[in-house]
Amino acid sequence: MFKERILSAWQSEMIKLNKRPWMTRLRGGEIGIGHYQSILVETYHNAGINPQQQAFATMYLPGKPRELIKKFYQHAISEIAHDLLALSDLKALGVPEAKVVNSRPLPATVGFTAFPIFQCQMRAPLGYLGYLYHLERLPTADGGKYAMMLKVLGVKDDALTFIDEHSTVDVSHNKMMDYYIDQLVTSDQDCNELIHQIRVATKLHVLMLEGALERAEDDSEWVESL
Ligand SMILES: [Fe+2]
Ligand SMILES: [Fe+2]
Repeated sequence: MFKERILSAWQSEMIKLNKRPWMTRLRGGEIGIGHYQSILVETYHNAGINPQQQAFATMYLPGKPRELIKKFYQHAISEIAHDLLALSDLKALGVPEAKVVNSRPLPATVGFTAFPIFQCQMRAPLGYLGYLYHLERLPTADGGKYAMMLKVLGVKDDALTFIDEHSTVDVSHNKMMDYYIDQLVTSDQDCNELIHQIRVATKLHVLMLEGALERAEDDSEWVESL
């Protein structure tokens, strides 16, 4: 029952956020390659921290659930180097590697990436699951559509490895999320906390995407000036 409530909360949050002007443009394919590059740079910054955060979160999970912690680590290991997929996509689009690795994340990316650490240490650790839930759910729900849209814009397969990997592999990660929820969400209060954190995570991620799109729009040469 909790799983259904959580999924439906995530879906209704995304329906709401997808109506925002930038998200409407993005989903309608009204962007250029520069916008995609800009999103990939922020994704590179965020994805490089995620596996370490997932391991870190186990420090705060209630009750030392050993089997779950083992799965958490295995899951985290499978996420290692996914930032390099984004980097490889950028290189395939002609962006020099040094410019990406020497760039700094946008403020919204810093906020989105720092959120799970704050959540674990200062609020309710279960909320970490809300962050992870969104990251795993989004690519399986929308990854295929975004890949098709980018292909129409002329993006080749070698610059779509991040999206391709996540729209397929994250299907099994969603199943792992269901297992984590079954194990850790045991009351209405837990479920409400997780849903609240899904609202925070989805909004922060959308702010990150909007920041990337805005940068590409404001300065079409932004890649050169990283
Ligand atoms: Fe990943
Ligand atoms: Fe994943």
